[in-house]
Amino acid sequence: MQQVNLGIIGGGTVGGGVFQAIQRNGALISSRLGVRLHVAKMAVRNIHKPRPVKIPAALLTTDWAGVVNDPQVTLIVELIGGTTTARELVLNALKLGKPVVTANKALLSAHGEELFEAAQNSRTNLYYEASVAGGIPIIKVLREGLIGNRITRLYGIVNGTCNYILTRMKAEGADFADVLAQAQRLGYAEAQPSLDIDGHDAAHKIGILASLAHGFWVGPKQIYVEGIRNITRLDVQFAQQLGYTIKLLGIVKKAGPVAGARRKPNGYAPVQVSVYPTLVPNAHVLASVNDVFNAIYVRGDVVGDTLYYGRGAGQDATASAVLSDLADAALDLKCGTKSRIPPFVPHEREGAVLPIDEVVARYYVRLNVIDKPGTLAKIAAIFGRSKIGISSVIQPEGHEGESVPLILMIHDATNAAITRALATIGALSVVKAPPAMIRVENFE
Ligand code: NAP
Ligand code: HSE
Repeated sequence: MQQVNLGIIGGGTVGGGVFQAIQRNGALISSRLGVRLHVAKMAVRNIHKPRPVKIPAALLTTDWAGVVNDPQVTLIVELIGGTTTARELVLNALKLGKPVVTANKALLSAHGEELFEAAQNSRTNLYYEASVAGGIPIIKVLREGLIGNRITRLYGIVNGTCNYILTRMKAEGADFADVLAQAQRLGYAEAQPSLDIDGHDAAHKIGILASLAHGFWVGPKQIYVEGIRNITRLDVQFAQQLGYTIKLLGIVKKAGPVAGARRKPNGYAPVQVSVYPTLVPNAHVLASVNDVFNAIYVRGDVVGDTLYYGRGAGQDATASAVLSDLADAALDLKCGTKSRIPPFVPHEREGAVLPIDEVVARYYVRLNVIDKPGTLAKIAAIFGRSKIGISSVIQPEGHEGESVPLILMIHDATNAAITRALATIGALSVVKAPPAMIRVENFE
């Protein structure tokens, strides 16, 4: 049987999981593909480090370049994370004409265009199923399964760590910091947890999905990002009282009539590409996606609504996605396939991202105000002058003369209008803290 020799760079959470999964299901994959996957070398930073997954010492090296350049190694697997060494090693491998599998969304987000071009120039492939949503094969779905559709809506819960934190905050009234520490212990969080909680990891993934869905490259600077650092237990509780659950949601949405119907002269509507905490109605399926699970809701103009659900982080889920790429790559090597469906062929060459100020949404607003006559009237007057409608108000009773939370649900308004109105409201003497605002999604 033909054999593919793998050079795996990285033997941490994901690398260890991939090694273990090949031990477990390598024979099954070989019988399905007619190709044997053989781990020839594994590069790590420290070969003496104790590892939960035992890797034979004879396989280990610290010399990643030696692995990439080894003529016996025919397929490179990049699992070290980061964007500097990872970029160098992926480019080196591609220039040698070796296909590369990566789980590194930060790398693709920062250097995707360059890497895909290098793969194309060398007539080889870059595979990246594990880069988005762990075990959910969403890359294959968008690139192949839904190829005959225009994607009009894509909503994704794509960061397992944030979903785990928000779920525990809601279920147990837990504190943000304690739950983050748990997510780190479980191997979900990135080495720098700010990548998760400040929304950047989700933005890397949403940029990859938006580019696949709309065919033009969406770089990280074009994506509006807010993380979950400022979500309080109070917000989680008031959202629940109003019939919503807070989720960190990636949104890729063609601007429609509601979003101002802005169109470029060539007729293309710009696309909203954003990541922010969102109030999701409890009746919507995404509100029930809990813990480390991810889900992606995709609407295509032919297929209608579709939903993909699974574990979005962790050793086994990610290893499963890497195995899928290894199988594709091994089969491509066996059959001499030099190119797959290209990653980001601009089918909407003039596509553009809608600036956040033009995005229209509903809003949840939490103010900390002095409970005295005239407070609500002053706030309502500012919204009124801004032509922004209030749809409901909650203020707990029994705090006369004291500061108290005032929760307002706001009708559709542009981001620019609500931001201006909240800046004016925040400057009122009866408002005791900067206003908190969370967008509401109605999934129309
Ligand atoms: P990790 O546990 O920190 O493992 C990183 C591995 O890379 C370690 O084995 C480390 O060696 C090795 N390494 C780092 N720099 C190296 C260098 N210069 N030369 C050789 N080896 C080097 O990270 P991870 O969680 O497995 O994540 C790996 C990648 O998968 C990242 O891009 C991440 O974003 C992505 N990913 C992770 C998950 C997840 O749930 N963890 C899910 C999807 C995607 P030592 O072991 O000796 O330190
Ligand atoms: N830190 C990432 C998450 C890992 O929590 O989703 C999976 O990409």
